[in-house]
Amino acid sequence: SWTMLNIVEDAVAAVQAQVGDGRAICALSGGVDSAVAAAIVQRAIGDRLTCVFVDHGLLRKGEAVQVEQDFVAATGVKLRVVDAAERFLKALAGVTDPEEKRKIIGREFIRVFEDEQRAILADGPADFLVQGTLYPDVVESGGGTGTANIKSHHNVGGLPDDLKFALVEPLRALFKDEVRRAGEELGLPAAMVWRQPFPGPGLGIRIIGEVTQERLDILREADAIAREELSRAGLDRDIWQCPVVLLADVRSVGVQGDGRTYGHPIVLRPVTSEDAMTADWSRVPYDVLARISTRITNEVREVNRVTLDITSKPPGTIEWE
Ligand code: XMP
Repeated sequence: SWTMLNIVEDAVAAVQAQVGDGRAICALSGGVDSAVAAAIVQRAIGDRLTCVFVDHGLLRKGEAVQVEQDFVAATGVKLRVVDAAERFLKALAGVTDPEEKRKIIGREFIRVFEDEQRAILADGPADFLVQGTLYPDVVESGGGTGTANIKSHHNVGGLPDDLKFALVEPLRALFKDEVRRAGEELGLPAAMVWRQPFPGPGLGIRIIGEVTQERLDILREADAIAREELSRAGLDRDIWQCPVVLLADVRSVGVQGDGRTYGHPIVLRPVTSEDAMTADWSRVPYDVLARISTRITNEVREVNRVTLDITSKPPGTIEWE
């Protein structure tokens, strides 16, 4: 629309005014905020923006490709991809405590990002760091500006305090729905623009127990099926998000194919919410749940039981960890 076009154009002009002929760096997470922020800055300064995508191996099926191919094709952004999956797995080995997992994932993210930053700076100075801070984030953090330490809990890792960068925050005045419309205006992939909330630590906090490659593969398949069926049923806009959780240390007996199996249960956690502060379990139609259950137990050998979480928040959080 006319106003959306203006919002994007104004944001582009503001970035040009701020950055001048300087260079900027942006970390992409796969989420809509960092993607829209990066696309705006790319429009403003082109190749003087370098994006970094740290693939921690904890994203859902198709999400890394979405960033590396679809987003780049849509924007022409200059992107450095770091496949850090092995490094994260190693760091997470043996760890089961949720907060410990978050800390490790955040710490590793910062280390990888800093290495990349050094490589980028070797090509010449960069003075600006792009962040997808939204208006509600600004309000939540007391309206402060100028530091790079925003919502360290809620973004992948947050970023180190000692970065000598000025922040570029093209979404600072916008609400989420405006960011999504800006994303559409900028021609970003629909799956990115309309992505539901997904935690920075990703599937790492949806495996209850130690995170291993095999468990990630199981969860990724089950999650992809649930998302596909919920989308097909037209429920994406009704559901706030639907964590799919692997109870990796629990085994349950089943009969699959020719025999008895001893597999893992997964939990579907579809919720409705306005802002994630409170939530209710969403009344997904039984036939949709039945399809998800049948497909997961047929297509993911290691899962022989699908359960539904019917707890509101409070008392249950949205995520299981
Ligand atoms: P809870 O589980 O606290 O989640 O009800 C509320 C919202 O926050 C998301 N969430 C996270 N997002 N890093 C994030 O970026 C995290 O560590 C994290 N933990 C929870 C969750 O998906 C929900 O949208």
